[in-house]
Amino acid sequence: MTVLTTARLIVRNWTDSPADLARIFDLYSRNEVVRWLGAAPGLPLTDPAQAADRLALWRARHADHGDRYGSWAVQVRDTGLVVGTILLKPLPGRDEQVPTGDIEVGWHLHPDSWGHGYATEAARALVDRELATGTPQVYAVVSPGNVASMAVARRLGMTHLGRRTDWYGGEELETFVRRALPDSPGGH
Ligand SMILES: CC(C)(COP(=O)(O)OP(=O)(O)OC[C@H]1O[C@@H](n2cnc3c(N)ncnc32)[C@H](O)[C@@H]1OP(=O)(O)O)[C@@H](O)C(=O)NCCC(=O)NCCS
Repeated sequence: MTVLTTARLIVRNWTDSPADLARIFDLYSRNEVVRWLGAAPGLPLTDPAQAADRLALWRARHADHGDRYGSWAVQVRDTGLVVGTILLKPLPGRDEQVPTGDIEVGWHLHPDSWGHGYATEAARALVDRELATGTPQVYAVVSPGNVASMAVARRLGMTHLGRRTDWYGGEELETFVRRALPDSPGGH
């Protein structure tokens, strides 16, 4: 199912096709990708069979969210290449089992697809769509030192709030926000 399209990209559900499962394994077995995903349980993948488990986890996590929140495949329209994952979801809180009302956008691209602006393009469309529903702000949280990811947040026009410990079990994370309405100095 297609969630949205942009000039170059389709954002769609990951499927259990052999090609998608192979790509999930290739992406999430790579240290240069998973090193930045915090203490995500079960990563890196070490066996191709684990790709189906990862897909099942995403499906279960977002079963009640329709196409509003999810972890989706990003595919290049012209070539069909799946370049990675884009996600939108409620941030887990200081107690990681309890989701907060704060919404996170995130991006995980295969290294063969870095340097083309795909993360920024997909995230911009997703954030715009979410803000248009009335959500006041969308966050991005980044492990300190992940320069490439912080650059995506800045390209999206997000404001850097510094390091926060409000989410993901209290982990210290560089926090960026994009608000639906611009800050008004002295405003209420
Ligand atoms: C974070 C990550 C998605 C960034 O990938 P990226 O390719 O640098 O980011 P974008 O897709 O926005 O692409 C921007 C780059 O493409 C270039 N680019 C080329 N063509 C472009 C185009 N048509 N439009 C926009 N940018 C373009 C930009 O100049 C920029 O390159 P630069 O950084 O050398 O200046 C990637 O490094 C990654 O997946 N890392 C591992 C997982 C991870 O850390 N995820 C984030 C966890 S918080």
